[in-house]
Amino acid sequence: MGLLNKLFGNKTKEEKIMTAEKWNIGIILGSTRQGRVSPQVGEWVKELADKRGDANYEIVDIADFDLPFLGTTDGTEPGIAAWNEKLSNLDGFVFIVQEYNHSITGALKNALDFAREAWNNKAAGIVSYGSTGGARAAEHLRGICGELKIADVRTHPTLSLFTDFENGTEFKPQALHVDNVNGMLDEVVAWSGALKTLR
Ligand SMILES: Cc1cc2nc3c(=O)[nH]c(=O)nc-3n(C[C@H](O)[C@H](O)[C@H](O)COP(=O)(O)O)c2cc1C
Repeated sequence: MGLLNKLFGNKTKEEKIMTAEKWNIGIILGSTRQGRVSPQVGEWVKELADKRGDANYEIVDIADFDLPFLGTTDGTEPGIAAWNEKLSNLDGFVFIVQEYNHSITGALKNALDFAREAWNNKAAGIVSYGSTGGARAAEHLRGICGELKIADVRTHPTLSLFTDFENGTEFKPQALHVDNVNGMLDEVVAWSGALKTLR
């Protein structure tokens, strides 16, 4: 196998890590409601991330997958398989988390429940928002990450509905959050690579 891999230019896991292969990081929009602000927040994170050039960043919108409510169908909807395939092709995640009744949205919980192995041994950062920066929702998500073997990083940008949005709808982040987003991404990229050895 070693010789064949060399002949065909295939790299071993270790070689890929050592040659600083770029990981695929999905920026997952946690809300799906009409009028949601998550696309604005996700685009902002992606813009900051793309400037770094250290990974392939993409927005992953749960709404695009038309996931049914778990267990209410026979499970053959194409969106379910597409969701698992998308997650399988990612090395790490940034969750864009909004606080609904002191927790994450039902849509994000449903999407989390719809996959298992595809989440395992990958890193995740959290960017949250709400009246208290979405902190309560983010902490709930951390508990779920433990069960799904997602390694959630420490640095956590928290955005306020009062000071980072105009009228709660137009996203105008304060400059101070930029360093925090970069700190979070540093950790997600590093841990995505480190966990590759387990995948
Ligand atoms: C059903 C619902 C419950 C909410 N509960 C909370 C809450 O407990 N704490 C909070 O800070 N904001 C709460 N909010 C405000 C949301 O954080 C705010 O509307 C935010 O913009 C939602 O994200 P989205 O626009 O991406 O859907 C709630 C909003 C909705 C729709």
